[in-house]
Amino acid sequence: MTEDVPDRRYPHRHLLGIAGLGADEIESLLDLADTYVELNRRTEKKQSLLRGRTIINLFFESSTRTRTSFELAGKRLGADTINMSVDVSSIKKGETLLDTATTLNAMHPDVLVVRHPDSGAVMLLASKVNCAVINAGDGSHEHPTQALLDALTIRRRLGHIDGLTVAICGDIMHSRVARSNIHLLNTMGARVRAVAPPTLVPTGIERLGCEVFHDMREGLRDCDIVMMLRLQSERMRGSYLPSTREYFRFYGLDYDKLAAARPGALIMHPGPMNRGVEIDGTVADDITRSVILDQVELGVAVRMACLEILSANNPPAPETEVAR
Ligand code: CP
Repeated sequence: MTEDVPDRRYPHRHLLGIAGLGADEIESLLDLADTYVELNRRTEKKQSLLRGRTIINLFFESSTRTRTSFELAGKRLGADTINMSVDVSSIKKGETLLDTATTLNAMHPDVLVVRHPDSGAVMLLASKVNCAVINAGDGSHEHPTQALLDALTIRRRLGHIDGLTVAICGDIMHSRVARSNIHLLNTMGARVRAVAPPTLVPTGIERLGCEVFHDMREGLRDCDIVMMLRLQSERMRGSYLPSTREYFRFYGLDYDKLAAARPGALIMHPGPMNRGVEIDGTVADDITRSVILDQVELGVAVRMACLEILSANNPPAPETEVAR
């Protein structure tokens, strides 16, 4: 693929969310990501496809997996990849999100990868710059590359997504991972269940395409995938639970509750995990069931695919003017 020909498999400038994407577009991103999995297992991983291109990681929230894997993805494709640390940036001196974005945009990056605590902030930023923007998680709204890497993990393990029953369990209310996965799994033909205490399920979540359960064993009954979520206390205002001990008793994944799922049902978690809160440590480490580290591995391949396609869809710097 040449760099400056828009990619018709995913004909968009940005990746801001899964909502609105078609099954063929999702499939295209997954197919390309699949081609990078073997490369990432080789000793020599470096490619030159994105040589001369610049990627800036702009994270207003902490991250281990997403930030590191975007950095590795950019470097493995030969791009210049820069991590902007908000803690030592001029944001600390009062510079706004949009002034920061237009300042970085004036340096002609090709892709901005942005994580922000406010839902909608990344979409707003994308409207002010003329490079590609990837949403690396905005508030409780969307985390599209997480849903894509989850889908690739399922597809590589089980061969398909359509027809599967996936139980997404835990703090659905504050989870951008849950929202992106509900959109993706529905689009790809899976049945989705949201399993959580009533205080952690947003009103109207059924309209996104899922069945709600408040009893963990009922929610897990005969499902193919158990996707656990962390309690996202950083987004909670006030108290949603009596105690984490009580929460683990009713909603923490242990072998007893897992027995309700299909034999061999896969266990997933986007990370970071809180062992003993939403998942028992032994279950998380059970290599016969848990694909949590596969998710991390495939995250690099998915981010390589996204960077490749969005770089192809956004012409190199000399052809574009800086947005003002
Ligand atoms: N899953 C996920 O987004 O992890 P990080 O917060 O470590 O990036």
